[in-house]
Amino acid sequence: MLTLATIASLRNELRPHRQAGRTIAFVPTMGNLHAGHIQLIEKAAQSADIVVASIFVNPLQFGKNEDLSSYPRTLQEDQRKLTEAGCHYLFAPNEDEVYPNGRDSQTRVEVPVLSDLYCGEARPGHFSGVTTVVCKLFNIVQPDIAVFGEKDYQQLRIVRKMVSDLCIATEILSVPVVRAESGLALSSRNGYLSVSELQQAPALRQTIHDAANQIKSGRQDYSQLEHEATVTLEASGFRRDYFRIVRRADLAPAQADDTELVILAAAWMGPARLIDNQELDL
Ligand code: PAF
Repeated sequence: MLTLATIASLRNELRPHRQAGRTIAFVPTMGNLHAGHIQLIEKAAQSADIVVASIFVNPLQFGKNEDLSSYPRTLQEDQRKLTEAGCHYLFAPNEDEVYPNGRDSQTRVEVPVLSDLYCGEARPGHFSGVTTVVCKLFNIVQPDIAVFGEKDYQQLRIVRKMVSDLCIATEILSVPVVRAESGLALSSRNGYLSVSELQQAPALRQTIHDAANQIKSGRQDYSQLEHEATVTLEASGFRRDYFRIVRRADLAPAQADDTELVILAAAWMGPARLIDNQELDL
C-alpha cells in the first residue's frame, strides 16, 4: 500500500487506473482503525478493482469543546491494518493540504434539515463539517463507490442525500454495525472508556434492543418508550443525549402507521459520547 499526503500525488496515482477502466472504491476515515473500519475496506475490495482509504481527523466536524486534540492518532498501526485488509492507497493529508485557505474561509456543503436533527442538535455544525470534507474527498478521489458504516446512521443518510442532491457520480454502499462480544458497537471513542465504563456501555445497545422488541410486540406510545429508555440509560450510568424512534424515510418522529423505523440513540458514558441504532420493520 502506498501512502500519499498530497492531492496531486494521489491524483497522479489514480489517473492511470481510471484510464485503464479500473473501478475505484473509497473509504474515508479519521483513523484509529478497528474491525468495523476493516469491514469497510473489505467491502470496498469486493466492490471495485482499486481501494483507496483516507485518514484525516477533520477539524471542521469537531465543536469547540470536543475531542479534536485528543482524538487518537495511530498512523503506523493503521497503515499495517489497511495493508493487511487489501487497501492499495492511503491518502493521509495534513490540514493545510485539505484547507489551504484556513478553516473559516472554506466553502461549505450543507444538507439542510437532516443535519439539524439528533446528533446535529447536540453537535451544531458537525454535519456541515462532515459533508464539506466528504464532498472534498469525493472530488479528490472521484471514486465509483464509497463505503460507510451504519453505526453513524444519520451521517450515512446525510451523505446519501448530499450525493443525490449534488449529482455526485459515486455509489454509496454501507456495512452493518460491527460489535464487540458484549454487544457494544465498535468505535474509536470506546478507547476513552475505563474498564468499568466498558462493562456498563453495552447497556446502550441493550436498551435500544429492548425498545425495539416492545415496539415489535405492539407498543406504539413512542414518546413514552423514549422516556422510559432514557430513564433506563441514566440508571445504567449514562448521561442522556437523545433516544429517538423515527421513520427511516426522513428520520422524522415515527407515527403509529409507520412501518419502517429506526431507533437512534446517543448517550455519554464518562468522557465518551457513544451512538448506536437499530432498524426495525413492522
Ligand atoms: O465517519 C467518520 O469517520 C467521519 O465522519 C468521516 C466520514 C471520515 C468524515 O470525516
